[in-house]
Amino acid sequence: MTPRERLIVAIDEPDVAAARALIARLEGAVDRVKVGMTLYYRAGPSFVRELVSEGWNVFVDLKCHDIPHQVAGAVGGLAELGAELITVHVAGGRQMLEESVRAAEGSGTKILGITALTSLDAQSLSEIGPPTTPEALVATRASLAYDAGLDGVVSSPLEAASVRARVGAAFEIVTPGVRPHGSSTDDQRRIATPGDAISWGASRLVVGRPITRAEDPATVAAEILGEIEAAL
Ligand code: C5P
Repeated sequence: MTPRERLIVAIDEPDVAAARALIARLEGAVDRVKVGMTLYYRAGPSFVRELVSEGWNVFVDLKCHDIPHQVAGAVGGLAELGAELITVHVAGGRQMLEESVRAAEGSGTKILGITALTSLDAQSLSEIGPPTTPEALVATRASLAYDAGLDGVVSSPLEAASVRARVGAAFEIVTPGVRPHGSSTDDQRRIATPGDAISWGASRLVVGRPITRAEDPATVAAEILGEIEAAL
């Protein structure tokens, strides 16, 4: 995979016109954008279709989590949009994951499993359920995602190495929580630099605010691509 194939920019704009303007500024600098809940619930599926028809590789990150029938239905709909990557939550369980895989079969859309949000640290994870560590939870969920036939997982860079040790080289490990040296951490807790994330085994990086809030997003994207290349 080339450095450009490894960088996905999260377009978390609540306004469709602002999202369009940002994407226009990134044209030529990157090939992949992520549409998450903030944008999708305003712009809708037609916006994803437009981006795909313009040649963008689109990651639609809705972290689907419901009963298997419902999530399979959602996955079928997202696969029809031509998204390259989509997400379901591993917490939905094996049957939900397996039915998701069947629903996307033959579409070319890859399904990633969300393990644990990178905004959650050990303390906040333990507030949600039985005391656990991010490492233990991500390891359990990554194994389930792999066994259920998903194409990869989303985890923080800090867990990439232990996940990579459990799965083959072809399994995607997509890591948000990426912060170049000196940039704000925002609400992210389990973070690392682009170079570290790649050297620890991430296949692709999702970077949002460090690029999208920069004065010149294309320049920051180019710097991150350079850091990815150096780490490969
Ligand atoms: O702006 P920032 O670089 O923090 O954006 C990270 C992106 O990755 C956001 O769009 C967020 O929804 C997403 N994400 C995450 N943690 C996960 C899965 C996805 O931060 N576990």
